[in-house]
Amino acid sequence: MRTLKELFANNQAWAARINKQDPQFFLKLSRQQLPQYLWIGCSDSRVPANEIVGLLPGELFVHRNVANLVVHTDLNCLSVMQFAVDILKVRHIILCGHYGCSGVQAALRRDRLGLIDNWLRHVQDVRQKHEQVLVKSGGDAEASNRLCELNVIEQAANICHTSIARDAWERGQELTVHGWIYGLKDGLLRDLNFTVSQFGETQDRYQKALSEIA
Ligand code: CO
Repeated sequence: MRTLKELFANNQAWAARINKQDPQFFLKLSRQQLPQYLWIGCSDSRVPANEIVGLLPGELFVHRNVANLVVHTDLNCLSVMQFAVDILKVRHIILCGHYGCSGVQAALRRDRLGLIDNWLRHVQDVRQKHEQVLVKSGGDAEASNRLCELNVIEQAANICHTSIARDAWERGQELTVHGWIYGLKDGLLRDLNFTVSQFGETQDRYQKALSEIA
């Protein structure tokens, strides 16, 4: 017996709608994907990558995890990045965080939630690194917003330091890394002005983006 019938019904309606607009759409996509963008975002159900930026299937390569982390030893994230950059030749990697991130809030409050505490330890590292900025923020909500922003900049900088990005830049491949944040309350994206198109820019852009937050 088929379960979750409503989801299958939604799927049939969706496929029919797209077919009506472009009868060749699925056939063309089944042959190849040529996305220009890699999106690294939070798993949060309220931050659906394609929808936010109005892109169709085939236009956005996506990796999501709790608190949009780019950990130097995370083979899952690194493999997505390597495939996207080396094989698909995406032009942009967008690291997108969001305000009100439960993972960031848990790290800020040092909540004990189970296994995930070990993953969120990476956000705690960001918190400790920027303790000075966070103590200046006036209250819990503001501290949470600041840490969400700081986490975006740190993770975007982590992308720039991977062998994947550095190798791409060294061989002259066009690649730009962006740090963005999404507002759950208004549905809008904000650019945190961490935009790096070659390795040598990383440190300068990192410092500038941080100074705009502090
Ligand atoms: Co989140």
